[in-house]
Amino acid sequence: MNISVFGLGYVGCVSLGCLYKMGNNVIGVDIAEHKVNLINDGKPTIIETEIDSLISSGVNEKKISATTDVVYSIKETDFSFICVGTPVNAYGEMNLSYIKSISKSIGEGLKGKDSYHVVAVRSTVPPGTCKMVSEILEEVSGKKEGKDFSVISNPEFLREGTAVYDYFNPPVTVIGSKDILAGEIASSLYATLGAPIEMVPTEVAEMIKFVNNSWHAVKIAFANEVGLIAKEMNVDSHLLMDLFAKDTKLNLSKAYTKPGFAYGGSCLPKDLSGLVYLGKMNHLEVPVLASVSGSNNGIKKKAVDKVLSFGRKKVGVLGISFKEGTDDLRYSPYVDVVEELVGKGYDVSIYDANVNYSNLFGINKQFIDVHLPHLVHLLKTNIDDVVQNSEIILVSHKLPEYLEFPKRFPEKVFIELTKNNHGSLIPDNVSGITW
Ligand SMILES: NC(=O)c1ccc[n+]([C@@H]2O[C@H](COP(=O)([O-])OP(=O)(O)OC[C@H]3O[C@@H](n4cnc5c(N)ncnc54)[C@H](O)[C@@H]3O)[C@@H](O)[C@H]2O)c1
Repeated sequence: MNISVFGLGYVGCVSLGCLYKMGNNVIGVDIAEHKVNLINDGKPTIIETEIDSLISSGVNEKKISATTDVVYSIKETDFSFICVGTPVNAYGEMNLSYIKSISKSIGEGLKGKDSYHVVAVRSTVPPGTCKMVSEILEEVSGKKEGKDFSVISNPEFLREGTAVYDYFNPPVTVIGSKDILAGEIASSLYATLGAPIEMVPTEVAEMIKFVNNSWHAVKIAFANEVGLIAKEMNVDSHLLMDLFAKDTKLNLSKAYTKPGFAYGGSCLPKDLSGLVYLGKMNHLEVPVLASVSGSNNGIKKKAVDKVLSFGRKKVGVLGISFKEGTDDLRYSPYVDVVEELVGKGYDVSIYDANVNYSNLFGINKQFIDVHLPHLVHLLKTNIDDVVQNSEIILVSHKLPEYLEFPKRFPEKVFIELTKNNHGSLIPDNVSGITW
């Protein structure tokens, strides 16, 4: 394929060399003339393992060239990668001025072109950027997205230092496109790499880099804080984290990665606060660990705010224990939500097949007597009564028998305070709010 690459920095230069290696003719474009000259002299614009030989062979074979002329590069190619910088300011706001500027130039190039052209945004950009690029291209070129050109998102996953290796060995190739043809053309570029190709909505593709890199940063900060505490306690932090990494069922896995409702129960809140306490006892700053509980409380507050926003006072709760299949109420996030609503004068009734007040004993009963002493009056034994007498129903447990209620009572508001890998309990055609 004939491909143009806009921006000859880390991502652009590596793309130039690797796209050539995969059999394409590539034109690199940059506003910085010295970078263009370097490429045309057969030299990379960056220091990176394996890139020197790729660029020099490509230039020698006349398969790689560089220019400052965007219009020429668009005319000579069918596919373009935008790899310009997207720096952030002190508030984290992304500067998209380079993206806008190159989009205008590409639009000028498209003006004089009759054949279909794909523009792939490789830079890290916030959701909605491809739409903005497409609007600029339509405005400047007078051409139509979907017919004359398409804009897709194809984020880059390389790490500096191992960039060429990473380019040829991606964990996954992500393509966000609403246009099937553009998605297929982009996929064909990666067909030989062997990595899975994920075709997703454009905004999902645009956001994945933010999520990936933030997760990597959180992992590092978590491990470092654990390391600080372990060191103070004379515990071998490396051995500890090696052991941690051996649990691929819950620790390093898909577990707990679905957005959903707040955590609770007798273990997570207790052991987290225990670890934070060990940090405090040793006069350590562990802000990541210390902030988790506040984040969890914020999710519960959001649920309460949601209920308040309807201005209806009768609330039913389906499931009060911290998770389905148990009668354990300790640190149940649903108890906190109910406590807040009762405190605000809401008329709350609760159904939970596993919770019977007279059967509660020990720490479980002590907890509820302190946190929700009214439970005995709120708990009902008939689920139908709870739903019928309520205007808003909070579905805390995802049980198949609850499925019929949103269908039977479409005039009521159902708010789902849980989410698992099986998707939503509330059918699409029912007025439910999924979390
Ligand atoms: N560096 C990385 O490891 C890495 C990895 C993945 C994704 N990314 C993302 O890729 C993007 C590029 O990163 P980078 O590190 O390669 O940036 P960079 O600053 O090294 O390179 C950007 C290049 O774009 C050029 N440029 C700016 N405006 C231009 C225009 N109008 N026309 C042509 N060229 C123009 C600049 O002169 C520069 O050479 C960023 O969004 C970044 O977040 C970077």
